[in-house]
Amino acid sequence: MAEKKKGAETSSYAPGSYAIDIGIDAKQRKLIAEGLSHLLADTYTLYLKTHNYHWNVTGPMFNTLHLMFEAQYTELALAVDLVAERIRALGHPAPGTYKEFVKLASIKEVNGVPKAIDMICHLVKAQEATARTARELFPLVNAANDQPTADLLTQRLEVHEKTAWMLRSLLED
Ligand SMILES: [Fe+2]
Repeated sequence: MAEKKKGAETSSYAPGSYAIDIGIDAKQRKLIAEGLSHLLADTYTLYLKTHNYHWNVTGPMFNTLHLMFEAQYTELALAVDLVAERIRALGHPAPGTYKEFVKLASIKEVNGVPKAIDMICHLVKAQEATARTARELFPLVNAANDQPTADLLTQRLEVHEKTAWMLRSLLED
């Protein structure tokens, strides 16, 4: 009788209980999915904050900021999908309610409608916070040899750091 190898096909398929065997153990997949859930919550919160400011910005920089915020929230709306679907590919449910996002996010919500300059400051802080959340995950992801998550995190870091720089530049003379 042939010896059963790890990853070998078996005939023991039971609907609803198909085991994941991608070469990352269950404990590491769970920890990475949890980390990505924090990133999803921060990205979604940043998305909503940016869209909110697109709607409510006023003042002499209206046109610049209204359009800049639109480009940013459009990119973030696509990014949340990539983060959520990576969580699913690792075998875990993606959080998708405001209640969960408030609990998981490191970005705090701001009351009222800030002045344009304060909106920019809040967005710099939120972009940087999201970058930190992504960066914190790297040791775990590298140890698990999880290249797709590392690639996703690298792309997210590039966007958040570049956007933070562009927003920060608006605050300088
Ligand atoms: Fe709009």
